This record gives sequence, C-alpha cells and structure tokens, in this order.
Amino acid sequence: MSDSQASKGDRRAEIPARLRQAGGLHEGVAREIAAELGVAEADVWGVGSFFHLLARPQARLRVCTGLSCRMRGALDVLAACRSSQLPVEEASCLAGCDVAPAVLRERRVLPGVTVADVRQAGGDWRALRSAGAPDHGPWTGHVGPTRDDPERLALNLLGTPDYSGAAFLRAQQLGADAMVDALEAADLQGRGGAGFPAHIKWRGIRSQPPGPRYLVLNADEGESGTFKDRELLIRRPDRVVEGLAIAAAAIAAADVYLYLRGEFELPWERLQETLTRFEDAGAFPGIRFHLHAGHGAYISGEETALLEALEGRRAMPRLKPPLPVEVGLWGWPTLIHNVETIACVPAIALRGGSWFRALGRSEAGSKLYCISGDVQRPGTYELPLGVSLDELAEAAGGLDGELLAFSPGGASSGFLPASERGRPLAFGSLAEAGSMLGSAGVVVLNHGRDLRDAVRAQLCFFERESCGQCAPCRIGTRYLREALDQSVGGIESSPEALAHVADVAWQMNEGSICGLGQAAPLPLTLALKHFPEVFLR
Ligand SMILES: Cc1cc2nc3c(=O)[nH]c(=O)nc-3n(C[C@H](O)[C@H](O)[C@H](O)COP(=O)(O)O)c2cc1C
Ligand code: SF4
Repeated sequence: MSDSQASKGDRRAEIPARLRQAGGLHEGVAREIAAELGVAEADVWGVGSFFHLLARPQARLRVCTGLSCRMRGALDVLAACRSSQLPVEEASCLAGCDVAPAVLRERRVLPGVTVADVRQAGGDWRALRSAGAPDHGPWTGHVGPTRDDPERLALNLLGTPDYSGAAFLRAQQLGADAMVDALEAADLQGRGGAGFPAHIKWRGIRSQPPGPRYLVLNADEGESGTFKDRELLIRRPDRVVEGLAIAAAAIAAADVYLYLRGEFELPWERLQETLTRFEDAGAFPGIRFHLHAGHGAYISGEETALLEALEGRRAMPRLKPPLPVEVGLWGWPTLIHNVETIACVPAIALRGGSWFRALGRSEAGSKLYCISGDVQRPGTYELPLGVSLDELAEAAGGLDGELLAFSPGGASSGFLPASERGRPLAFGSLAEAGSMLGSAGVVVLNHGRDLRDAVRAQLCFFERESCGQCAPCRIGTRYLREALDQSVGGIESSPEALAHVADVAWQMNEGSICGLGQAAPLPLTLALKHFPEVFLR
C-alpha cells in the first residue's frame, strides 16, 4: 500500500505528496521537486498554488467559517486568533459542523474551539487546544439511531467492526452478475450527492473492453454541513473496505484508490489499521489498496476533478462525456463511489437487495443524515431515506428553538422555509421543491438567526471554492455575492433587477462544466422565492 502510485514512467502523480513533505509551496521548493521528479516546474507550481493546504504553508491554523461554525462563534474565534497574531486563515468547511466551531491546527481538526482557548494559547499556535472536547477523536458527535434496531440498519455506526470478510465471501459465492442484480434490487442511489443508481455504473464499467480498470473511493467530503463520511470512516472502516473489495472484485479492478480529504487525520489512521487487519488475514487476494491524501479544495470532491488530483494535477473538473466508467484514471475505465454508497454494499451482499430497499421510506434504503445548527444533539443519524426534518430533529434531541429555515443538503441546497418541515428529505422530493438532498448535510436555523448572513455564507463558500475554469461560475459566484452585499437593504425588487439575477443564475446553470457552478445560485434564488420580505426592497 502506498500513499500514491504514479502510472508507469510518469512521476507527476507524486507532486502533491512531495509538496506536502516539503511543507508546502515555499521559496525554491518547486524547482527542487521538478528536478527530482523530472516534471515541469510550472506543473509543481500549478498544483502547489491550487490546494489551500499547500498554497499557504505559513497559515498553521485554519478557522472554519462555514455556516454551522459561524452560528457557534467562529468569527469571534477567527478575530481572537488575528488579534493574538497567530498564523491563521479562514477555511470553507472542515467537516466538523457537529463540533462547531472547528479549527484546523496543521492537519488536525480541533473541535469546539472557544475564544478562551485562543487566549490560553498565548500567541503560540502549537499550544492551541480546545477545552470543550478532546482534540484527538473520536469526536463528540452523537451517533444514532435513537430508536436502535440493528436489523433496520445497513451501516450501524454504533455496531462493532467486523473483520471476518463474510460479506466478501458471500459476494464471491453470488458472482459479479448476481451482485450487480442485488444492487439493482436494492435501488442503491449514490450517496455522494447526485443520487445516481449504482448498478448502472457497475454495469457500465463491466461492459468496457478488457484492460486495466480502477476503483476510486471519494472521501473528500467538503460540502458545508456534511460530516457523515468522516463518522463512517472512523466508526465502520470495516464496512468501507469490505465494500471496496466487493466492488473491485465485481468490476475486475486490481487497484483501489482511497482519496481522503487532507484534514481527515483520524479517518486515515482508522483506514490504515483496517487495511492492515484485512491484509494480515489475507482477506482480499489480488486487490491492492492505495491511500491518498487530498490537500484542501472542495472542488476535488467532484469526481473528475478528483481524478485530476490523483494524477497530480490541479483539481479542475473534466468535461463529461466521456464518463469516468469509460475514460477515467490515467485514461482507463474507473468506478468512483462515495464512502456511504460503498459502505452499503456489504449489507446488500449479505442480506439482499430487497431487504435494503425496504429500509427506506419514500425512497430505497437507510440513509446517514447529518444535522447541525440549532438542534440539541448535532450529529450523524442513520434513518430511513425519506424522513422529514421533524423526524430527523427528533432523533437529534429536538430543535433548539422555533424553526425559521433549514438547508436540507449542504450549501448547494439553499434554504427552505419552516412550512417544508414535513417534506421527505429524499432525492426526488427535494428536487420537486427546487432544492436537493445532495450529501444530506442538514443545517437548522431558528428564529433569531440572521438569514441574510446565512445565505451570504453559502454564496461565499462557492465563490471561494470555484476552481475558476469557467467564466459563468468564476464571475457569477462573485456577482451574486456582491449583489447581496451592495444592497444592504435588500436586492432591488424592480423587474429588471430580478431578471438580471435570474439571467446570471441561468447562465451559471447552463454554462458551467460542473455541479458547483450549476448549484451556486441556489442559495440566493431560493431565498428570493421563499423569503422575499428579507431579501427584497
Ligand atoms: C462541487 C462538487 C463537489 C463534490 N464533492 C463530493 C464529495 O466530497 N464526496 C462525494 O462522494 N461526492 C462528491 N461530489 C459528487 C461526485 O462528483 C460523484 O457524483 C460521486 O463521488 C459519485 O459517487 P456516488 O455515485 O457513490 O454518489 C461532488 C460533486 C460536485 C459537483
Ligand atoms: S463550474 Fe466552477 S468549479 Fe466547476 S469547473 Fe467550472 S469554474 Fe470550476
């Protein structure tokens, strides 16, 4: 198992890891690495300047200013760091919404940091600790369900890891065709955001001409509001690795790449331990696993951007088609899945597709929901796919006040009003409401919260994280944020002004290469639709 594996003769894929070893993009480093790897210096610069964790190595602390962290005082923590002259910068999201506000110290996430913690550090960033929660996991997120019934759970975050390899053996007995049929019977929709049926991708890659095929795990979890994959990797890495082994065998892939976001120090350790345990037991013969660290960029979670990053380039999305199952990593057919999707596979192999499908409510299967913001017990809860906000909030100990609005699926989903609290939190139902389930990162805002600031936080997220490749996204994300900023009293409600906002949103939707640019207007357009009294003047 290696940190990264280049295709034969091309050492470009080693660039990010070498930059990390060198402590980031310091003076003279690009030239040295370029000479050592035999690549162009510009390539090293390109990668080093693209990823947040490599581009500014002098920033030792990063305060998350994503929505849930802002709601718990992140801006005060940031200001305190600055006034203590600590080497700090903002981070878009650290996947720690349940332990907000989160601060990254080098590559370790500190949960629940307070202004007092910053003062205690006394100007030394190395001394920053968080008093409210341990700074070495497991983190403090509550993990459900509250209505425990292991028979109704596909993932069972509270269960004991199982290294027997029983699900892999069962899948081998079934054979690849029957395993794909089981996925179809399960109606397993991808949990990374798009909800695309998994069996179609598996069949798609199995029908490619003979040659190398790769399997890639997308563990780049960076959508503000989302932290479920982190919990899965920490608590049930056995399910993730066994799911990968089943998928690799079914599509005849010998190499599996696990791409973890750079801030996932503890999940990385858990995965390494798990891989070693399975390897020692000789559980998955012929399958090689490669752990790969990301370096901080939300866009690298987009599947084709992730492939670029694995190849040692800037994480800029590719045009589709061709799809990754046709032309993927180093040009070969590649199956990419989200952590949760893959972790559902062992239970489907063992218990069958119909069993999994029946776990759901309005759609198939059980689902990991993240909930944070104004609730009693922010955390990750496994519940039937299609529960309502009220049911989810009940699992999380109830709301912490009177509901004003909620974001059902991360920054990309905008905000829905309280009147939608009974709507199923499912792919189809939320699409009908003009929003999306996305990665099921639910953030709750109660009365007393500043909705304008919340919408602005989501717009800023996209502006900062746009890779800049397409003009509609690069310019549009900024334009929409400025439209909100410039009109302190609200966006002008004249037909011309509203038509202009709608036109920019349309251009972003139509002219962007990837989902970031397409979804980025949603926070503002949904806010104008549901909360005109707040946003219009
Ligand atoms: C901007 C952007 C960011 C994304 N980030 C992630 C991510 O962090 N994790 C993830 O699994 N999918 C992410 N996706 C979705 C992936 O492109 C892809 O659909 C997914 O990995 C496929 O796996 P699935 O079929 O199991 O859902 C992102 C998509 C976009 C447009
Ligand atoms: S839509 Fe935005 S993030 Fe996506 S490729 Fe274009 S510029 Fe990059």
